[in-house]
Amino acid sequence: MVTGGAGFIGSNFVRMVLDERPGWQVNVYDALTYAGNKTNLDGLDGQRFSLTQADICDQRTLDAAVRNCDIVVHFAAESHNDNSLAFPWPFVNTNIVGTFRVLEAIRRYGKRLHHISTDEVYGDLELDDPTKFAPDTAYNPSSPYSSTKASSDMLVRAWIRSFSIQATISNCSNNYGPYQHVEKFIPRQITEILEGRKPKLYGHGKNIRDWIHVEDHCSGILTILDKGRLGETYLIGADGEKSNQEVIELILELMGKPRDDFERVNDRPGHDLRYAINADKLKHELGWKPKYTDFKQGLKTTIEWYINNPSWWKLQKTKTEVKYQRLGR
Ligand code: NAD
Ligand code: DAU
Repeated sequence: MVTGGAGFIGSNFVRMVLDERPGWQVNVYDALTYAGNKTNLDGLDGQRFSLTQADICDQRTLDAAVRNCDIVVHFAAESHNDNSLAFPWPFVNTNIVGTFRVLEAIRRYGKRLHHISTDEVYGDLELDDPTKFAPDTAYNPSSPYSSTKASSDMLVRAWIRSFSIQATISNCSNNYGPYQHVEKFIPRQITEILEGRKPKLYGHGKNIRDWIHVEDHCSGILTILDKGRLGETYLIGADGEKSNQEVIELILELMGKPRDDFERVNDRPGHDLRYAINADKLKHELGWKPKYTDFKQGLKTTIEWYINNPSWWKLQKTKTEVKYQRLGR
């Protein structure tokens, strides 16, 4: 069972599972919020795939779905920092209360859980700090989004220790690739250019994110499901540190525009400076390695996907830019 399987990473994960695990059946459990999209799951094998449209906060429906599965991979979350600064409540509700509901269902029916989390739970690093986040880094989240994800991780850890549930956790860095909502940095810039406007860089633009292709995140999760030790936390990252300005310049170059053809807009309040993941535990203990080691090439195929799928993003684009206009970003 895949909660949030109609979103960006969840739908890429479902596709990978159905391709690579011929004996597995997948039930996507998703409320189809503004971020979930049924068409992300178009064309999947109807014999091995089903969709339950429901909220993870609805314990009865959730219990019925969990009872019928073997493993829950829990992606469902409110995932966008800018939204969490404007309206924090859905983040508290879905990310904290919703994860509590998932944990209770797991405990009741004795199922295996993999909880998907983020590197943002560790807060941020200085731009020139040589260290990276590791599994023993102290939690220090900054935003309503990251603090609710940190809370959800703490709940999972407490349920492992107190109730001996069979669970693992992964904390991944910034994903990019097909099916990512246009509110997020990379798709926003690509679609701004495709609509004839300039990319938008927040603040000084020196902030660093550690980019990983979504397929590498998904293969990391599958590796943990196959070989991960119960009760453990694994960090997933592919050594893809880039400043936001560098990424915008690269997108402009790949789309045939001058590298300085972008706008500077208002900064995000409390904007984290830098994230960086040390994924040695996943690499050395479980033998995982990323496939997309050339960021420029991964970005090029992502740009092509948005060029080839305007009907997928056009509707969400208009609504998203209205939201950003209100924020002055
Ligand atoms: P997304 O916003 O694209 O998708 C979230 C999905 O969850 C959507 O399909 C939505 O409909 C569903 N959902 C939201 N609230 C729900 C609820 N109450 N009940 C049921 N379904 C609900 O998010 P994403 O970028 O694919 O992220 C997925 C997970 O991965 C999240 O837990 C996020 O914190 C984590 N993560 C994301 C990144 C990233 O770079 N995007 C990196 C690390 C970790
Ligand atoms: O690190 C993992 C996290 O990465 C995930 O947990 C989150 O779900 C995911 O949204 C992402 O969070 P960020 O806040 O890092 O991603 P976002 O795409 O919103 O922004 C990436 C960087 O780009 C960030 O420094 C803000 C900046 N930015 C963003 C937008 C939308 C801009 O400069 N311009 C923009 O238009």
